[in-house]
Amino acid sequence: MFVSAVCFLQASGTALPKDAGLEAKVDATLSRMTLDEKIGQMTELSIDVLGSWKDNEFFLDPEKLHEAIAVYKVGSILNAPGGPTAQTPEKWEQIISQIQDISMKEIGIPCIYGLDQNHGTTYTLGGVLFPQNINVGASFNPEIARQAAEITAYETRAANCPWTYSPTVDLTRDPRWSRVWENFGEDPLVNAIMGANQIIGFQGDNPNQVGPHKVATSVKHYLGYGAPRTGKDRTPAYISPSDLREKFFEPYRACIEAGALTVMVNSGSINGRPVHANNELLTKWLKEDLNWDGMIVTDWADINNLYTREYIAADKKEAIEIAINAGIDMSMEPYDLNFCTLLKELVSEGRVSMERIDDATRRILRLKYRLGLFETPNTFHKDYPEFASAKHENIALKSAEESIILLKNHNDILPLEKGVKILVTGPNANSMRCLNGGWSYSWQGHLTDRFASKYNTIYEAVCNKFGNENIVLEQGVTYLPEGAYYEENVPEIDKAVAAAGDADVILACIGENSYCETPGNLSDLVLSENQRNLVKALAATGKPVVLVINGGRPRIINDIEPLADGIINVLLPGNFGGDALANILAGDTNPSAKMPYTYPKNQAELTTYDYRVSEEMDKMEGAYDYDAVVSVQWPFGYGLSYTTFKYGNFKCSQNEFDADNDLVFTIDVTNTGAKAGKEVVMLFSRDMVASLTPDNRRLRAFKKVELQPGETKSVSLPIKAADLAFVDSDGKWTLEKGDFRMQAGTEVMTIQCNETHKWDTPNK
Ligand code: BGC
Repeated sequence: MFVSAVCFLQASGTALPKDAGLEAKVDATLSRMTLDEKIGQMTELSIDVLGSWKDNEFFLDPEKLHEAIAVYKVGSILNAPGGPTAQTPEKWEQIISQIQDISMKEIGIPCIYGLDQNHGTTYTLGGVLFPQNINVGASFNPEIARQAAEITAYETRAANCPWTYSPTVDLTRDPRWSRVWENFGEDPLVNAIMGANQIIGFQGDNPNQVGPHKVATSVKHYLGYGAPRTGKDRTPAYISPSDLREKFFEPYRACIEAGALTVMVNSGSINGRPVHANNELLTKWLKEDLNWDGMIVTDWADINNLYTREYIAADKKEAIEIAINAGIDMSMEPYDLNFCTLLKELVSEGRVSMERIDDATRRILRLKYRLGLFETPNTFHKDYPEFASAKHENIALKSAEESIILLKNHNDILPLEKGVKILVTGPNANSMRCLNGGWSYSWQGHLTDRFASKYNTIYEAVCNKFGNENIVLEQGVTYLPEGAYYEENVPEIDKAVAAAGDADVILACIGENSYCETPGNLSDLVLSENQRNLVKALAATGKPVVLVINGGRPRIINDIEPLADGIINVLLPGNFGGDALANILAGDTNPSAKMPYTYPKNQAELTTYDYRVSEEMDKMEGAYDYDAVVSVQWPFGYGLSYTTFKYGNFKCSQNEFDADNDLVFTIDVTNTGAKAGKEVVMLFSRDMVASLTPDNRRLRAFKKVELQPGETKSVSLPIKAADLAFVDSDGKWTLEKGDFRMQAGTEVMTIQCNETHKWDTPNK
């Protein structure tokens, strides 16, 4: 069932439902297992160490497989072979069946195979790739999150894989971070709702019976991963205890309530302690406080990193001791079997208890039973006739259309008239790689133009829509295909300027090339100089410029923004992004997405919309006129439409409330323009006075509605009064007596809380 944006977080009760029959099977299996078998289940290896390549094809090596599974009893394998590179469903069927056969024969326990099917079938050739999660956030439509996950689950199972390392609900709190685009944006509620909808889409609504069309999820990267102080991936974050609980933890809590079966851990540290070594965050917050019986897996080599990078352990053995005792259940090693030997020594030396080993093994077995792998270790491509169907592809197209943001439309330059002559230019104009970003056919997304050639780049889609005869392609700036993501060829700006001569309008497609994780680190957030020079030179021709921004994170463009009449941010819209953009340019689709993050204007002014109010202050009177003003290019929640909306009649079910009340806000929204359109109605709150400096604004609910010209709808936005609470410095959820200013669209009202209330538990 579709989980609505406004009501999801009101679900209460956190434990995954217990199934007595399933638990009995887990216990019976556990009681038969040796210590070696238990430790083997806790080990995850990369496929690369189990095979080799012949004539460009990967094959498992029977000896290596025997050593890993028959000797060391390894219970999980991950990743695509070759760098990694996507494989056909038939190849996956072959690889995973071979692994399952030996697992069932040698240990009687199925292996669990995991893949990063992160925006569709990343690692399955021919499957559907959807817009990246940052687009899903921008759509503000939870149904898009759920549908994409549903289809991805089906197509992943069609390739015999039962587990995906998704969804990613790290808050995007720093625009410099190379993984901004893997998340749903900067807001905790948007991440919580989209993440929870993906969980249900991937797993279905009964986590004890994840059927053969569904996959287990691994919500990641728990937690605080999106706020590294340096902006560089996998580096330390410093997060206040109340922000950690109130903002960073909430999306994970929502995903666990939605049934998430596994969690993957943040590779970095928070306030000095690596999360893989943090018993409070792993065992207390997740397993005990949420009464969650799912399984915790490390990220890539992160037990090793405790001694090789974080220096909190002297050697690997000590690192294993720390991590397993902190609550890690499975180690994504991913290359080395000495994890098994060292953990066994730790048990015999009493440094890791048998109870901890049994607890971890039980969680892993429970996952495998929940997935039905004991009875059905394999699924077969032939049983999935809808794999990459036209229906699935059409949903990817619609998702892309709903996730593209119109940011500027001076003098209604858009939509463009049919027959208009367009110069298509810029490095992102003719690239499937740029439209998809990382986690597309390969980790870095660098093979996409080879594997996705049947889909349309922006240039191809614009030709299809406006007629080849009206379109000229002259890119002016291009990326170096084999280089780092930021490397560009020597620019040919003069050629682009010359080509503008015959054009009525210039479509400048700028942004970033694909990247993923640490290779995507940057040292300058400003858009490349070549690209800005290209736009400046083209604007100097006097022809109107429409900028298409295409990239994983916001790159600063304050010097070229004023030169453009139209600006569209496509983010990373996937394989149908070119077509979706062309539909919007032609006016066949009315844009309806909103900014999922704050787009910065200046390098030294990086902020989020929910900053504490005192971060921005007016001039103070007196001798020292302190001030702090932060400019942003486009705020969170901003986005235009080809029609206009009017808000009115804003009401709340009660003007005074107590902590246990349910509040229902209603507002009338009218389409006052001439085109049908969708509007995201957002409810924001501001605690006027609080004992911790309050946040400027907080999104409390949202709903996307479609309105015909002239139509009015009354939109209802229910919340719990408890949703207005913050986490105080005592670690407790706190709702304080006093005024709250509520806002929806242009409308504002004040409501009052009658008495202060505190809750100990995260689920209030
Ligand atoms: C990434 C994870 C991913 C894992 C397995 C790591 O490098 O941080 O997001 O799930 O690899 O591929």
